[in-house]
Amino acid sequence: MRHFLDIADISAPDLKAILADAHAMKAARKGLPKGAPDPDAALPGRALAMIFEKSSTRTRVSFEMAIRQLGGSSLVLNVADMQLGRGESIADTARVLSRFVDAVMIRANKHEDVRELAAFASVPVINGLTDRSHPCQIVADLMTLEEHFGKLADLKLAWVGDGNNVAASFIHAAPKLGFALHLACPQGYSPHEDDVGYAGNSGGKVELSNDPQAAVEGADVVIADTFVSMGDKDAQKRLMDLAPYAVTAELMARANAKAVFLHCLPAHRGEEVEAAVIDGSQSLVFDEAENRLHAQKAILKWCLADA
Ligand code: CP
Ligand code: NVA
Repeated sequence: MRHFLDIADISAPDLKAILADAHAMKAARKGLPKGAPDPDAALPGRALAMIFEKSSTRTRVSFEMAIRQLGGSSLVLNVADMQLGRGESIADTARVLSRFVDAVMIRANKHEDVRELAAFASVPVINGLTDRSHPCQIVADLMTLEEHFGKLADLKLAWVGDGNNVAASFIHAAPKLGFALHLACPQGYSPHEDDVGYAGNSGGKVELSNDPQAAVEGADVVIADTFVSMGDKDAQKRLMDLAPYAVTAELMARANAKAVFLHCLPAHRGEEVEAAVIDGSQSLVFDEAENRLHAQKAILKWCLADA
């Protein structure tokens, strides 16, 4: 069973194949109306259920359009409307959904819940973001960088801000694709200790510091994310603690002259990033958002390849 729960679980060749397939599918449907199926729609008749415990714009719409372009169909389930929201077990939910649909995507508060769903499902489960990681986002981000730079291996990426779920998935990808990653996070906002451990043991070129200037020095890519993720408490404290880690035009100017800016969105202009950066010529954020669609399609095909 091919679940897509964390980049750390995916082999480097498989991750590279997913990226290559995403590029190929994007090119193959150039010029088609967005709702039209792909020329060789690869998943006819397949049904995808999507469970949401948290809000989403990009993940929901990209997965809905992805399965439609692949020839399949989707249904969206909000936890509040499901028996899961009234205490039905994750295990029974997994067993029942597996009888109705061919794959399940879930955006959940707790990472363990997604792992439990996968353990009891007899169809592939895809992590659409948890408190600990956001692997689908990172496939789209890496695709965007490959489009722009051609290859990833020689790049230096700088993550500036909270060492959150999105940061964790970048850490997981670093040893697989060979790029260097410097994360600058304030004290108390470092990535989870398991991810710090992974960074140290996986052979990736990952550096951690409290210094945004050092992180962006020589960087080809500067990345920001919200200072207050879904489910975070103490928004006011976070905004204060993280304020010195905003990506300003001044910080961006310390990166390489041809550096680009990424942000998974939604963004908060004036908090984690200045409008001049995210709306400026170095920003790739809307290519990045579009590439969620192509990435999702490649992930769905990878999950369902032998199913
Ligand atoms: N980047 C991302 O996952 O966006 P949504 O929360 O809108 O899905
Ligand atoms: N770190 C953010 C990403 C949103 C797509 C969050 O978890 O809310």
